[in-house]
Amino acid sequence: MTDIFTAFFGSEAEELYLLECMSYFMIFMAGTTFIALLFENVPYGRYSSSKYGFPVNVKFAWFVQELPAFMLPVYLVLGTSATQLSQISNRFIVAMYFCHYVQRSLIFPFLIRGGKSTPFASFMLAIVFCVYNGYLQIRYLSQFAVYPANWVTHPCFITGCVLWLVGFLINIHSDHILRNLRKPGETDYKIPVGGMFEYVSGANFLGEIVEWSGFALAAHSIHSAAFAIFTLVVLSSRAVAHHKWYLAKFEDYPKSRKALIPFVY
Ligand SMILES: NC(=O)c1ccc[n+]([C@@H]2O[C@H](COP(=O)([O-])OP(=O)(O)OC[C@H]3O[C@@H](n4cnc5c(N)ncnc54)[C@H](OP(=O)(O)O)[C@@H]3O)[C@@H](O)[C@H]2O)c1
Repeated sequence: MTDIFTAFFGSEAEELYLLECMSYFMIFMAGTTFIALLFENVPYGRYSSSKYGFPVNVKFAWFVQELPAFMLPVYLVLGTSATQLSQISNRFIVAMYFCHYVQRSLIFPFLIRGGKSTPFASFMLAIVFCVYNGYLQIRYLSQFAVYPANWVTHPCFITGCVLWLVGFLINIHSDHILRNLRKPGETDYKIPVGGMFEYVSGANFLGEIVEWSGFALAAHSIHSAAFAIFTLVVLSSRAVAHHKWYLAKFEDYPKSRKALIPFVY
């Protein structure tokens, strides 16, 4: 089925080259985004603005924008003719990716309480990113990635998997805390308490950054590193912005709480 990709690119070598170029382009975009985020926050949630297009219902936006990050990889995995997915390392790393995106695209959107509408431009950019990254990560892992036979016992793989799991749990737990700050029907903001929020304002973002850093360590490729770097840039900026926003909004905001890194920053 996915041999249409090989047919399209002419040869596997050419497609592999394209995947590498896409990774370097993602790193380049992370640098560009870093500079842009010094001047403006990503416009969704509390920073939503009508100048970025008409508002899209938040549940609809999260579901539709994240769905390609799940559906396209399903298509790639089911259709690959390569033997990579018979390897335990590849299977494990692909499973980590799917664990996240089953949660993010099929569960998370329907649990949101009182979230702000997403401007159309942010919605479209998120769709583009999910298609781009879904293809980049899973096409590489299912068609090209070759790991040493004993990779699953390598310290990089084990440490990466542990970091991925810890980050995943922090992310889900922190999003759960945020969601429960609001009673059904409420839309206002409150001071988050409990879990990693005792230490940082961006606890959900810290979890996601740790998660994809662990994924990159286990997957050990430029493709996964590019995703981890992009996530770090976008979410560290959002954590810092939220932290400043909380300090300005709440006089009684805990003074010892940091933005992203417990006790440090
Ligand atoms: N990998 C990536 O590059 C990437 C990029 C973006 C997001 N994400 C992930 O997607 C998830 C959501 O991200 P996000 O940027 O929407 O997170 P967020 O700004 O923390 O908001 C998450 C949800 O909680 C609500 N909320 C936040 N703070 C609240 C407070 N103090 N009181 C009451 N409700 C509050 C928000 O409502 P409002 O909508 O009303 O603000 C929103 O519905 C996170 O897990 C994040 O890690 C990943």
